[in-house]
Amino acid sequence: MPHQFDFLVIGSGIAGLSYATKLAMHFEKLQQEIKIGVITKVQADETNTKYAQGGIAAVWSEGDTFEKHIEDTMVAGDFLSDRHIVEIVVNEGPGRIQELISYGTRFDKEHDGKEYDLAKEGGHSDYRILHFKDITGAEIERALLEKANSLKSIEIFTHFYAVELITRHQLGETVHRYDTDNKCFGAYVLNTLTGQVEQFLAKTTLLATGGIGNIYQNTTNPSIATGDGIAMAYRAKGIGKDMEFIQFHPTALYEPGKKPNFLISEAVRGFGGILKTRKGETFMENYDPRLSLAPRDIVARAIDSEMKKAGDPHVYLDVTHCDYEKFIEHFPNITAYCHDHLGLDIRKDYIPVVPAQHYLCGGVRVNEWGQTNIQFLYAVGECSCTGLHGANRLASNSLLEAVVFGHRAYEKTVELLNQAVLPGNIPAWNDAGTTHPEELVLVTEMKKELESIMSNYVGIVRTNRRLKRAMDRLELLYLEHEELYRQSKVSVPICELRNMIEVAYLVIKMAMARRENSGLHFNLDNVK
Ligand code: FAD
Ligand code: SIN
Repeated sequence: MPHQFDFLVIGSGIAGLSYATKLAMHFEKLQQEIKIGVITKVQADETNTKYAQGGIAAVWSEGDTFEKHIEDTMVAGDFLSDRHIVEIVVNEGPGRIQELISYGTRFDKEHDGKEYDLAKEGGHSDYRILHFKDITGAEIERALLEKANSLKSIEIFTHFYAVELITRHQLGETVHRYDTDNKCFGAYVLNTLTGQVEQFLAKTTLLATGGIGNIYQNTTNPSIATGDGIAMAYRAKGIGKDMEFIQFHPTALYEPGKKPNFLISEAVRGFGGILKTRKGETFMENYDPRLSLAPRDIVARAIDSEMKKAGDPHVYLDVTHCDYEKFIEHFPNITAYCHDHLGLDIRKDYIPVVPAQHYLCGGVRVNEWGQTNIQFLYAVGECSCTGLHGANRLASNSLLEAVVFGHRAYEKTVELLNQAVLPGNIPAWNDAGTTHPEELVLVTEMKKELESIMSNYVGIVRTNRRLKRAMDRLELLYLEHEELYRQSKVSVPICELRNMIEVAYLVIKMAMARRENSGLHFNLDNVK
């Protein structure tokens, strides 16, 4: 029997939960019974959101202004951001954060216990980062999950993996990518405990599936970040945008062989941390007057260049001069991790850091209400491309974008709900002729190949030759994997790899198409 909902939410991070709680509260207030299904591929809190450290950016202090935050976002995005969207996010941000607070999210306050303690990060011209120690994401995720669990119209399905969106294609109809009358009716979802693919039908579906970090060897993203939503939307004839703008965080902890890479928050540089070479010399003065607090693309490229020049596997972040008591108060998690994993005493030891894939600025193209080009399909959060980030995301603007767009998508969903109708003839998942694959080792090895292609040829610095090589290698991988996929019963590893190959294809294709260097896209063969 198919599951039937009014709203299906794929993903339980900040984007999915913000949207689901808004909808549930809206209809509970109207005393109208509705059903919201939230699915998540592992346990509910295993999300990129949970690992966010630095915080959430918003104009909060008296001295700060919306204009300054808008300008900082535009500058960081190399002026490729959509100014209208930037204005929306910056202006609506404080209201959405107040709502997070009303759900019980704690942010650190100053010692007087009244004002919030605002931090500063790269590219921000003022102190505007609300944070909870250095585990802001875990705190937001905790509060949102508690809120969602308290609302009776929300049911969270953990260990359910969305395999494919259900659109007009499944009804046997032909729809092209730029047609405006495609429609989404939910998703085929693998119950990972039973191995069965079930229908999750819904009048409205939200993709909130997060990022794509695992297509790279080094990433700060947890293993769930495999680009599933973007690949599913693309296969359903959604539109991908700005996929070439991959953000590498400048300061992931250097811990060879560890995946994901533990993050050393940008807020540490905001607190006074200074980047140094392995010889202990500063170098950011050779790259940007904002030094260690320049936007991420600039700092990551500078580190990459210093590492290549010296042949070093990492650089250092020096916090030995910082006030230790204050540091440990703000960054207890980072201090403990460095000590427990590398034996570092940050009062006297430098922290070894390397850039690592961190965030995708592009994603499924959406409008100012989070609507994709497929009717009744929305995308919010890291899997979406709203136009906010342009060529490079400003630090701590991601959580902000997710809450603002979670709200806007909820508003549009309510407005259009009466137009959504589920057809009666949606077929069940058909896996006739497939078997359980006996050679999962192939999937493991193909995944390693994919990581190697992306890391070696589609990293911080690109060239035409590297991009072409990446595309050629990827094509072989694609053909090999499609054959395996067609013969196999679906499983999470096989589907994830399929999705990762597809998003890698979009990244390379869009990187090849961009002929000028902007923000995070830097190709030595481009003129600018
Ligand atoms: P996520 O939080 O990643 O949630 C994705 C959800 O989708 C998960 O529940 C997952 O299970 C589910 N999912 C995915 N695919 C499927 C599928 N096929 N079927 C079912 N479920 C699926 N941003 C900031 O603004 N400030 C910060 O301080 C900050 N720090 C960060 C630190 C780290 C280490 C990392 C990795 C990121 C950080 N970011 C930060 C970025 C930010 O955390 C993310 O961009 C944001 O949390 C993404 O939220 P989301 O809801 O879109 O996705
Ligand atoms: C960090 O704490 O450095 C991450 C902030 C972000 O990704 O916005």
